[in-house]
Amino acid sequence: MDHFLYRNGALHAEDVPLAEIAATVGTPVYVYSAATLVRHFRLFDEALEGLDHLVCYAMKSNSNQAVLTLLAGLGAGMDVVSGGEYQRAKAAGVPGDKIVFSGVGKTVDEMRMALTGGVRQFNVESEPEMRVLSDVAVELGLRAPITIRVNPDVDAMTHAKIATGKSENKFGIPIARAREVYAEAAALPGIEVVGIDVHIGSQLTDLAPFEAAYLKVAELTRALRADGHTIRRLDLGGGLGIPYAHSNQAPPLPKDYGALIKRTVGDLGCEIEIEPGRLVSGNAGVMVSKVVYVKSGEGRDFLILDGAMNDLVRPAMYDAHHDIVPVIEPALGLEPAPIDIVGPVCESGDTFAKQRLMPPLSPGDLVAFRSAGAYGAVMASEYNTRPLVPEVLVHGDQWSVIRPRPSVADIIARDHVPDWVRDGSTECDS
Ligand code: LLP
Repeated sequence: MDHFLYRNGALHAEDVPLAEIAATVGTPVYVYSAATLVRHFRLFDEALEGLDHLVCYAMKSNSNQAVLTLLAGLGAGMDVVSGGEYQRAKAAGVPGDKIVFSGVGKTVDEMRMALTGGVRQFNVESEPEMRVLSDVAVELGLRAPITIRVNPDVDAMTHAKIATGKSENKFGIPIARAREVYAEAAALPGIEVVGIDVHIGSQLTDLAPFEAAYLKVAELTRALRADGHTIRRLDLGGGLGIPYAHSNQAPPLPKDYGALIKRTVGDLGCEIEIEPGRLVSGNAGVMVSKVVYVKSGEGRDFLILDGAMNDLVRPAMYDAHHDIVPVIEPALGLEPAPIDIVGPVCESGDTFAKQRLMPPLSPGDLVAFRSAGAYGAVMASEYNTRPLVPEVLVHGDQWSVIRPRPSVADIIARDHVPDWVRDGSTECDS
């Protein structure tokens, strides 16, 4: 459930009409519901009740500082994948001992930053990374707490670009080699092994792959303990999917996922961490866009919006489906008709939906892309010198711009034209 509902024929975010925000801030614009963020975070927290646990929000899904501060206030930990995300988490008031550091390519600078600033653990993805981390920790007179991310070779049955748990993926170390790698970890002077990490992919709409992966982790926990390692923490990753087509999808609920965790690893006496991103932020956001033109083509019509692939890249990148709904409810009796919904960017890939059934719309009408709170604004760019899409947070009848739209003048001013280009001296080079 989310808090984007029609009231008196107008789509609202909580108590605020989306049209009011669009009129003030302009379009395209992302709008988030604080109540939905809170509700979704709590669903996970409650699902793990009874276990010693920490929900570490995967902030890559939506890392606006206001969103992070709101979740930090609820006690959320954070899953970060870069030095930049680490600094955002700290700036939002998240203590180091609630920050887990994931990612396949952590640099020495990032390791140093997290070790000196405080970190719950590094989720180590390879032996070379582990050796470098040990050296960095020793140099600082510290020991780095780690889990090792194991790749369980499980098919997550999701889009190939967001599946991570198969042996052909770049993530983690093969589970079959785990005992060997843990033995090396135990011998490294700058490393303190605290547990095991696994993450098999994103937008999983079936619990079976989680079950297969977690059973393998449970078996590995027993084997590693028998080898003499202290395994006191399991990081079970993120990945629980959300309904993108609201009318016909019902992915598993956090409470069923929580029950699965209890059933598969609950008897091991470990602290449990999970790293949900999409399920916390996805349905807490919409992107509002305006119709610029309705164009009749050869055998099909096009709805041309002012939002584009640079603002919401998921359809172009993953063929992802987003429900697209009119902000003003269509009058009864208006027949929907198929239409291609596109943006203005000069690529055919700038297509949000093909032959989507939509009510008749005219230039100036607003539409909302649902389920756009995760991997929406964070993946936006300024391609075609389209200013980065702004973000708004709603709480009841209050709303605030939490990231303004930059001006084109700001964008131009960021670039530097060297004197030797301006004075034309490059013309002499041959
Ligand atoms: N933990 C790790 C180690 C991850 O790599 C990810 C996502 C998560 C947690 C959070 O997964 P979630 O709960 O959000 O499914 N841009 C793509 C999704 C990429 C996911 C990357 N990793 C999209 O728009 O669908």
